[in-house]
Amino acid sequence: MSIRGSNLLTLGGLSREALLEILDTAESFVEVNQRTVKKVPALKGRVVASLFFEESTRTRLSFETAAKRLGADVVSLAVASSSVKKGESLRDTIATIDALGLDAVVLRHRSSGAAEQVSRYVPHVRVINAGDGMHQHPTQGLLDAFTVRQVLAARRGLSGSETGSSLFEGLRVLIVGDIRHSRVARSDIAAYATLGAQVRVAAPGTLLPSDISNWPVEVVDNFDEALEWADVVGLLRLQQERGTGAFVPSLEEFTFTYGLTQERAARLRPETLITHPGPMNRGVEVDSAVADLPSALISQQVSNGVPIRMAVLYLTVAAPKENS
Ligand code: CP
Repeated sequence: MSIRGSNLLTLGGLSREALLEILDTAESFVEVNQRTVKKVPALKGRVVASLFFEESTRTRLSFETAAKRLGADVVSLAVASSSVKKGESLRDTIATIDALGLDAVVLRHRSSGAAEQVSRYVPHVRVINAGDGMHQHPTQGLLDAFTVRQVLAARRGLSGSETGSSLFEGLRVLIVGDIRHSRVARSDIAAYATLGAQVRVAAPGTLLPSDISNWPVEVVDNFDEALEWADVVGLLRLQQERGTGAFVPSLEEFTFTYGLTQERAARLRPETLITHPGPMNRGVEVDSAVADLPSALISQQVSNGVPIRMAVLYLTVAAPKENS
């Protein structure tokens, strides 16, 4: 099922065709972002609320940039100086903003399931999950897959959309680190696995979720061997704010066993790509010099946040619902 005219709460359950529709739509918006005047009127007259109840740099800025480049009016709630601090509930906050006349809500919240809850409060408004607790970060999963496809396609002199999902078929993706607390891991794995990649995960046992056997991944025993296997190494941030510190003896021990140090990076195949959603803990999950290697796609991932979020806003808000 396409996300046209629907909410985007999770990548779980989206078909390969639905994912490719988003990636291909984003590709058309890359060109818009390269113009002198980076604007199209696809969402002119529409109102998008940007509600970040949890900290963000990349996701908030790129969603707001995306909405403005599509011509929408953006209402941005500064949560720290809002009535949320006086104890106003999520439901009343959403109802208040909805009374201004909304077409879409972009929501980040520390609670898993918050975006789905908001979608029940305002069923006439399109809700886009910008990260909910440990559950999902759908646009991060999309932009990570988009960036990997873009680089692999460029190596063949092609655009991503010319390749469809073919470059993901059998692609060997290794996701490393704090899988347990990571909404990025959940969305990345859903995207890569649905598009046809083989996905493996490497983490200390304490940082694996208890239901990992139900995920479409293989858990690796030997991280160093898995690095040699991987075409893509997807690093994750060690999430101190979700209590990760209680799951590893020390940051130094985590770095020693699962950090992408310079020694480990030197053993990667030259064509292996490195991703990280940011923000990074330089010197913990990734050595600072490794993060700045040409094979590390971190800046390109951030840049691609804008066209991916333009595509998601366009498809969910402006495009008619499928079969309607
Ligand atoms: N990757 C990501 O979600 O970053 P922010 O928390 O800065 O939005």
